Amino acid sequence: MAQTFEEISASDFFYRNRDIAGFTNPSRAIFVAIREIVENSLDAAESQKIPPEIFIRLSFESEATKDTQIYKLHVEDNGCGIPPRFIPSAFGQILYGSKYKLKQTRGTFGLGGKMSLLYGQVTTHQAATITSSTGDTNKIYQFKLMIDIQRNRPIIIDRKVLINKDGWRGTIVEFSLEGDYLRAMPKILEYFKQTAMVNPYANLTFVDPKGRLYKFTRVTTIMPEPPKETLPHPYGVDVELLQRLIAITECTNMTDFLRRHFHRVGEITAQKFLEFSGLTPSKNPKKLAHEEIVKLTQNLKKFKDFLPPDASCLSPLGEELLRAGITKELNPEYLVVHQRKPSTYGGHPFIVEMGIAYGGGVPKTGSFVIYRFANRIPLLYDEASDVSFRVIGSMNWRRYKVSPDMPIAIVVHLCSTKVPYKTVGKEFLADRAEIRREIANELREVARQLGHFLTRQEHVDREKKRISIFSKYLPRIAQFAAILAQRERIPDIEKLLKSVQKYGAEEE
Ligand SMILES: Nc1ncnc2c1ncn2[C@@H]1O[C@H](COP(=O)(O)OP(=O)(O)O)[C@@H](O)[C@H]1O
Ligand SMILES: [Mg+2]
Repeated sequence: MAQTFEEISASDFFYRNRDIAGFTNPSRAIFVAIREIVENSLDAAESQKIPPEIFIRLSFESEATKDTQIYKLHVEDNGCGIPPRFIPSAFGQILYGSKYKLKQTRGTFGLGGKMSLLYGQVTTHQAATITSSTGDTNKIYQFKLMIDIQRNRPIIIDRKVLINKDGWRGTIVEFSLEGDYLRAMPKILEYFKQTAMVNPYANLTFVDPKGRLYKFTRVTTIMPEPPKETLPHPYGVDVELLQRLIAITECTNMTDFLRRHFHRVGEITAQKFLEFSGLTPSKNPKKLAHEEIVKLTQNLKKFKDFLPPDASCLSPLGEELLRAGITKELNPEYLVVHQRKPSTYGGHPFIVEMGIAYGGGVPKTGSFVIYRFANRIPLLYDEASDVSFRVIGSMNWRRYKVSPDMPIAIVVHLCSTKVPYKTVGKEFLADRAEIRREIANELREVARQLGHFLTRQEHVDREKKRISIFSKYLPRIAQFAAILAQRERIPDIEKLLKSVQKYGAEEE
């Protein structure tokens, strides 16, 4: 029999392979759905430098199977809102979004929010409701949507325009989905806690199906600078990208072309590079033959003198906010935070920031507690596959007087225009040599400082013990000495004790 061939849409692909996007089982699915919708809300508020105010409610609707239930998820934010003409596609068409730009965001695939809606649709057969206003007009738009999975297009079931009396700006996403909240609960709560840790300027309120209220309150309204869009760096360019740039460019010579479309390429660098790759500066880029484009791509990677990408397209938290976030959620006895200088892998800039917290509210589990973040997203699954886990595991901790049974939490945050996730489920970072090196260097830095603290601490403890021995035995020695020497008056030991104590106090 002859083979039959068919084409499927992007929606259809993810409908058939939802595990790829993290919707593996009812417990994981409800966690991922909440995470994706909340992340869209955080992106929407941060892009405008608005301190996020996010309200999440998960309510029970009905029993589904023996272990699973149907829930309604409601997420409301005070973000930028979405212009009505984009709402249907933004929520009803897979691989459609506003974040395919070269700058740091949480969303990267134009997928997450819609996958959650698609999952809700196939498990409950109900439409989603999206309500949004950009605050510029006095109107609020409300859409009832479903996804035409085979065609990868939104189906608008209903559309309403409401009057925006109070100048509200933001988005409300509501839909039903099947899930196992009881099993997912620990991860969901952990997700909020860690989100609060790396977004200390956000207010998060979560009402769970039992009506329990979890509130994470901001400790600051200072926010990191939003990232700026950047141009591709020469080291990260491939033939496809080069062809696209050539197709759209208005430049008529190679020097201008390189300067106009590539990150950190100026007149002089462009000239040097053209000489290096044997191209005449006046050549029209549109006249390049296919082989020349291939050659050019190879040379862009080989040329040593391109400046490294700058980090304005990134938005790390910064030491102050990282400190505020960790203190807020862990309240440790001692905390070091540090940020590395920007670095790159394959033409993508990245920054590693780290915190190491000791004692106080840090849970004592018998091993290091590792908090992993990428572009301010907590990564909660597959810890052992993550590059930071490996780096932490292979470090010689004894050198820093640190052992895993101490109450120690390590917070690793990687920001990049391209986070090297291993899956679209965004769970762990691939082991790229450049990133591993930066994490290792940063780890040594914070570990060294913690080591100093622990050494000092040990010293202080020893002193304290010494003083307590003195103050316990000195009075008795004085008393016995007086008896032995047949003196009536017991010598005053207070002075002696004080001098020892003073030394101890200074140490502390
Ligand atoms: N709460 C929101 N506020 C504003 N815009 C949003 C919100 N949620 C989603 N969007 C828009 O919808 C697009 C698609 O979202 P999503 O499917 O999660 O993909 P991604 O976040 O990867 O772009 C986003 O790029 C964004 O433009
Ligand atoms: Mg998203």
